[in-house]
Amino acid sequence: MGKPEFIKSWQQNGIGFIELNRPKLLNALNRQMVSEIVSALTEFDRDHDTRVILIKGSGRAFAAGADIDEMAHDTPIKLELLNQFAEWDRISQIKKPVIAAVHGFALGGGFELALSCDFIFAAENARFGFPEVNLGVMPGAGGTVRLTKAMGRTKALEWLCTGEQMEASVAFHYGLITRLVPEEVLFNEAERFAAKLAQKPPLSLRLIKDTVNKAVDVNVYEAMQYERKNFYLLFSSEDQKEGMKAFVEKRPANFRGQ
Ligand code: HXC
Repeated sequence: MGKPEFIKSWQQNGIGFIELNRPKLLNALNRQMVSEIVSALTEFDRDHDTRVILIKGSGRAFAAGADIDEMAHDTPIKLELLNQFAEWDRISQIKKPVIAAVHGFALGGGFELALSCDFIFAAENARFGFPEVNLGVMPGAGGTVRLTKAMGRTKALEWLCTGEQMEASVAFHYGLITRLVPEEVLFNEAERFAAKLAQKPPLSLRLIKDTVNKAVDVNVYEAMQYERKNFYLLFSSEDQKEGMKAFVEKRPANFRGQ
């Protein structure tokens, strides 16, 4: 792929930044933009020096959904052949922690993108919702599944069927977001949190994320067996030796991700 047209991405102090950059259309996610996001995520995931990834919007929104103009004339066969959701699936396969910093609208595919992240920092002006019902469709990139797992069937059905916008304080109330902060400090707070995670042993973060995701999907017994294996696995890392040695020597640990 050539130079990205709809996003900007850069790395600084162990944090991989992805900025959605289609502000005039409230960062409406066309298919190329989703591919660019996935490419940047994949590159950061492979880059040893990147420990955490942070996605944010530019202009007055995070993202107001998939690009309606682009999909207005789609047919089922075109959609089947495009297989665009294979790209979306790759977002949930990223191993490193991904933080979404959400201000303004996070609607439809924009909400799905945020829900695919591991942490959501939201400004007080953030508005979440699935307006697809008003377009005669429904979410297609995990929205019904993730919202239901996150807030339960009763409330998820209400938001999905009304298509109304949820205030950030409501999203916080239902545990959909990690932190609710004033808009002017959103990016700083999200970055501060990313910097905090960047100091942690990357392999621990990786396996914690993997294990928590497993816990969402399987029964308690299976999840606990899985947890145990990942716990054992970390004892083969140098960071485990370093972390415990540093504790005994009463000094800060220097984690290297190995
Ligand atoms: C294409 C969009 C867009 C979108 C906004 N724009 N959202 N273009 N697709 N999803 C464009 C508008 O057409 C307009 O372009 C410009 O962005 C600014 O938007 P306005 O409507 O003028 O702003 P405002 O009045 O503040 O209203 C904001 C809004 C509204 C409430 C967010 O734009 C809106 O309802 N947008 C659509 C939201 C939506 O239905 N999202 C779900 C999409 S379906 P011009 O050229 O007129 O300036 C979906 C399915 C996902 O996401 C499936 C998986 C991929």
